[in-house]
Amino acid sequence: MSGFAWRPMRPADIDGVVDVARVAFPDHFEARECFEERLALFPQGCFVLASDEEVKGYLIAYPWALGSVPPLNSLLGGLPETRAEFYLHDLAFHPHVRGQGHARPIVERLAAELRAAGAERIALVSVNDSLAFWRGMGFEPVSGDEAMRRKLESYGGDSTYMMRKLRGAANGAPAS
Ligand SMILES: CC(C)(COP(=O)(O)OP(=O)(O)OC[C@H]1O[C@@H](n2cnc3c(N)ncnc32)[C@H](O)[C@@H]1OP(=O)(O)O)[C@@H](O)C(=O)NCCC(=O)NCCS
Repeated sequence: MSGFAWRPMRPADIDGVVDVARVAFPDHFEARECFEERLALFPQGCFVLASDEEVKGYLIAYPWALGSVPPLNSLLGGLPETRAEFYLHDLAFHPHVRGQGHARPIVERLAAELRAAGAERIALVSVNDSLAFWRGMGFEPVSGDEAMRRKLESYGGDSTYMMRKLRGAANGAPAS
């Protein structure tokens, strides 16, 4: 394991986060303002994998209604009132720290913290051929309607809407 550890994201981390995003999502550009806004709106859902000030990975999640996906590279403008349903917008690592077991600890930390705060479900859109990875993290594909299929087009051909339940008998996720 490298000397990197997860901690809450801070405004000073945004440069590093943008750098990781650029490498990790070459086909899904998002402007710096999008990252700044997500951190400002819901800092509880923003984490970085860092050593001192060097950022090599990040996770961003925020409250969002199930069955709806935020458009890429757009400001959210605010958050919905729900604290039961969340959207995991990004989990990304610089290639130098991939394959080192950093993903599961932060996904489980997020799930535990949201569950403790009363959340019921986390959704995401898997891209970059990551469906099997997300299955391993307790998420399962959810078939969407025509409107969902249209929205997913902006995420690319291999994108899949997935969900993990945080309570009850769930997708391989631990019951509370
Ligand atoms: C997807 C990504 C976050 C995975 O990171 P990683 O460093 O490989 O993850 P880890 O080393 O922590 O592996 C976690 C687990 O997932 C498994 N895994 C990793 N990649 C996998 C894949 N493509 N398919 C199936 N399982 C996978 C690992 O075997 C490991 O399993 P284990 O905990 O049972 O041992 C990383 O490849 C990345 O940053 N990709 C670019 C950005 C991206 O595509 N993010 C997700 C899109 S929404």
